[in-house]
Amino acid sequence: MSAHASAQPMTALKSGPLRGTALIPGDKSISHRALIFGAMAVGETRITGLLEGQDVLDTASAMRAFGAEVTQAGPGDWSVHGVGVGGFREPADVIDCGNSGTGVRLIMGCMATTAMTATFTGDASLRKRPMGRVTEPLSLFGAQAYGRHGGRLPMTVVGAANPVPVRYALPVASAQVKSAVLLAGLNAPGETVVIEREATRDHSERMLRGFGAEVTLEKTAEGNVITLVGQPDLRPQTVAVPRDPSSAAFPVSAALIVEGSDILVPGVSQNLTRNGLYLTLVEMGAEIDFQNPRTEGGEPVADLRVRFSGNMKGIEVPPERAPSMIDEYPILSVVAAFATGRTVMRGVKELRVKESDRIDAMARGLEASGVRVEEDADTLIVYGMGPGGVPGGATCATHLDHRIAMSFLVCGMAAKKPVSVDDASPIVTSFPIFEGLMTGLGATLSRDSR
Ligand code: S3P
Repeated sequence: MSAHASAQPMTALKSGPLRGTALIPGDKSISHRALIFGAMAVGETRITGLLEGQDVLDTASAMRAFGAEVTQAGPGDWSVHGVGVGGFREPADVIDCGNSGTGVRLIMGCMATTAMTATFTGDASLRKRPMGRVTEPLSLFGAQAYGRHGGRLPMTVVGAANPVPVRYALPVASAQVKSAVLLAGLNAPGETVVIEREATRDHSERMLRGFGAEVTLEKTAEGNVITLVGQPDLRPQTVAVPRDPSSAAFPVSAALIVEGSDILVPGVSQNLTRNGLYLTLVEMGAEIDFQNPRTEGGEPVADLRVRFSGNMKGIEVPPERAPSMIDEYPILSVVAAFATGRTVMRGVKELRVKESDRIDAMARGLEASGVRVEEDADTLIVYGMGPGGVPGGATCATHLDHRIAMSFLVCGMAAKKPVSVDDASPIVTSFPIFEGLMTGLGATLSRDSR
């Protein structure tokens, strides 16, 4: 994608109370999967509430390149005419997954057991990220991958002509790797088994069942044992994509630290594999009411009423909670800076291989904003300065990382002096309406640097 071709500086100023209702766009993980599973079903899958962020649009283009018909009927309203498991056609050109690790890893999985060759690339951020974690299990099915040094993109994957099913224990807690293996297992005969020691987001399993695949989960001493029966006929579905809890984290956190705020964030997922941030915030003393619990689009959701919380305390975040809040550590570290006392985040080394090295990016930006931090390979510690206590006055580097950009802009809404980011353009990958939504609540953002 070319969205990052020109940097877009942005500055957040100390903002008045945030008030109103924040309608968060569709979940990114579920949006990718709706397009991919729709492409692997025979017939028309209808999707409502699809996130129209650049990451997901890149996956839509990729599914077209593999032969599915993907069309937009209206805002968030999409249709996919799928070609069936094993029905992909070889793409005529390189597949560009832009900024999206989820996109490229899941798509490698779903073509790896079909006899075809595809070459993948992405933006400067994605080209730095490790693909070996996916190509290694895919090679067990019989696929081959040829990439740059260290398993980096661009990379060519030659799908297995005669795939065999696989039993694979995940060496890292990664839903992307789990999903790539399950997707590859769809076109292999027999049972493919993935074992995860720590539970990661379970959208693939839930949605594959909805599309008619046989997927079972057994909880054992080894961890979750997930078994998929290969070569199903996937049936097209109507998918209502719920709102993204990882995007909701930004207005929720902003309301907690901007004095006088009181906002409503409807339909935030309470899926136990995604809700770690919300548990952590409540433990810190955040005033969040979870109202009207119900099921939407197959996910448990609640409406969150969030008020400025002047009594938040730093905590030790349990390391085993990391998979359920993996994308939320950057914004948690901002909330921690406005709490009293130390917040310790251990077991977070996976943050170093996200869209950027998020431990480093947050540590440097917080330090520049006057906050004391400590880090090691697997840990980030933030020393809170209390409500309104962060000096700010920094320009933070976002390293093509949407969540780093949004985290520092939220920081600037409550800091004493403005906080700028060098490039807010990556925000379009996951939360294209961030600027309008936040200013609508009362935040002050300006499209320049200070
Ligand atoms: C995702 C899984 C997580 C997460 C990413 C989305 C997914 O990555 O960080 O934003 O949709 O499966 P890992 O599986 O690499 O932890």
